[in-house]
Amino acid sequence: MGYVKLLFFMLYTFLCQLAFSSSLCPKDQALSLLQFKHMFTINPDASYDCEFSHPKTRSWNKSTDCCSWNGVHCDKTTGQVIELDLRCSELQGKFHSNSSLFNLFNLKRLDLSYNNFSGSLISPKFGEFSSLTHLDLTVTSFSGQIPSEISYLSKLHDLRISNVYPLVGYLNHLAI
Ligand SMILES: *[C@@H]1O[C@H](CO)[C@@H](O)[C@H](O)[C@H]1NC(C)=O
Ligand SMILES: *[C@@H]1O[C@H](CO)[C@@H](O)[C@H](O)[C@H]1NC(C)=O
Ligand SMILES: *[C@@H]1O[C@H](CO)[C@@H](O)[C@H](O)[C@H]1NC(C)=O
Repeated sequence: MGYVKLLFFMLYTFLCQLAFSSSLCPKDQALSLLQFKHMFTINPDASYDCEFSHPKTRSWNKSTDCCSWNGVHCDKTTGQVIELDLRCSELQGKFHSNSSLFNLFNLKRLDLSYNNFSGSLISPKFGEFSSLTHLDLTVTSFSGQIPSEISYLSKLHDLRISNVYPLVGYLNHLAI
């Protein structure tokens, strides 16, 4: 009898492990997102141009699967983070070249518009998101030049960069 109980116990723990390990989001990508979150403070003024802003990163935490986090979208089969929509998310702070965001190299869409990254340059590392099709850096207070590395993004077909209202800076098939 005790032997059967042990078997059941082993089966039970095995199933539990399976349930927990089947969360979609790869751990390293969740960690990169959390590191990214902690690089910034939340300040509603950072998204003052938005009709409606919401601190999407505030709810990001380890106890939930990162694919369910606000603004994060994963590929349904591979689980890779492929979309990050942080438009109007009240983020304020420096956006460094060593940002953990650059670890998310499967990203296809990246929207960082209407946040305040004042005092930051647009890192050449944006050119390393080789799967990127959409990049939106509208009203993000980045300064300096647009790095030529952006032209390495061969799949990019929608690039928005401007520091005023998005009338300017809309480019299709960018060629630098
Ligand atoms: C943007 O952030 C900088 C410092 O990081 C701050 O001095 C500036 O006032 C902020 N702008 C807005 C509109 O909040
Ligand atoms: C983690 O996130 C979930 C949903 O996003 C939220 O309900 C929960 O309160 C959060 N937990 C912590 C410790 O912040
Ligand atoms: C990233 O770079 C900045 C400035 O160069 C530095 O202050 C910060 O500590 C670095 N962060 C990490 C995680 O290395």
